[in-house]
Amino acid sequence: MNSAANLQLWVDDALKAFAASKDLEQLKIERIAHFGDKSPLSLASRSLGSLPANERAGAGKLIGDAKAKVSQALVERTAALEAQRDERTLKEEKVDISLRTFRHRVGALHPLTLLKNEINDFFIAQGYGVAEGPELEAEWLNFDALNMPSDHPARSMQDTFFIEPEQAHLVLRTHTSPVQIRTMLEQKPPIYIICPGRTFRADELDATHTPVFNQVEGLVVDKGISMAHLKGTLDLFAQKMFGGEVKTRLRPSYFPFTEPSAEVDVFFNGRWIEWGGCGMVNPKVLIACGIDPVEYSGFAFGMGLERTLMVRHGITDMHDIVEGDIRFSQAFGGGI
Ligand code: PHE
Repeated sequence: MNSAANLQLWVDDALKAFAASKDLEQLKIERIAHFGDKSPLSLASRSLGSLPANERAGAGKLIGDAKAKVSQALVERTAALEAQRDERTLKEEKVDISLRTFRHRVGALHPLTLLKNEINDFFIAQGYGVAEGPELEAEWLNFDALNMPSDHPARSMQDTFFIEPEQAHLVLRTHTSPVQIRTMLEQKPPIYIICPGRTFRADELDATHTPVFNQVEGLVVDKGISMAHLKGTLDLFAQKMFGGEVKTRLRPSYFPFTEPSAEVDVFFNGRWIEWGGCGMVNPKVLIACGIDPVEYSGFAFGMGLERTLMVRHGITDMHDIVEGDIRFSQAFGGGI
């Protein structure tokens, strides 16, 4: 039964089956059938021992040759099918990197937000609190409590958005000073706060104006507060904003809620630039808030964030700040 003819038949069968295998799974089945432990070839190989000694060597060589042929065919077919599989995988799993994706673009914090955070951090580090208030504000808090009764000419300094109905006496706050009033009404001195926030005035949007803008105001009320404290605070603040070399100066000015009042200018990039308003809190304002002006005094200051940003970064058009083009924000490194 282990005749050369039989062996040749098994080899032919195996080679045919391997060649007909279309993939590695099928080849595996055929390998088990034709080359596995129970295949005729293996059985013949194992039965060699039972042959008479003089036949063993000849039969052994024949079986060995047959097994070598099958094994060789198996190796070759395996390699061919693996190559086919790899080629198919490469084709089927190809990624077209030129295809549009629905990936979400990363946003960026607006430079005004970055600036606000920077200012908050600066004052918080000095022990100030950050106070906020409503954008829709009582007329009394926006004006009257700040020593601007309805017939006061200073009211016309700020073109106000009045909210209907008139009897409600509500305005879009024209500055963040009402937050200072709210704080003084709620808190006893010592008071050290800054009030950042959106403010509104009836201006047309142009290169230097916007009807919605941001301010940061500061308020200190304590015993023995003088103009020297105000100047020192403004100097440090200006250095934080514009660099250590910057100089500041105070120019006499007028605000109803401070007395004396001043404009604060900074000397930046070779010229004096008007930065904000400041002064000693008018005793009338302290009284309106229930604070004794004999015992306490205070200073206040207020700056526009847009203006600060424009001066510091040489931005010449307000539109860039309000339009919300992500590329403008990204240039300030506020990526999130
Ligand atoms: N509230 C003033 C304004 O908006 C700025 C200011 C604040 C001036 C505090 C003096 C003191 O114009």
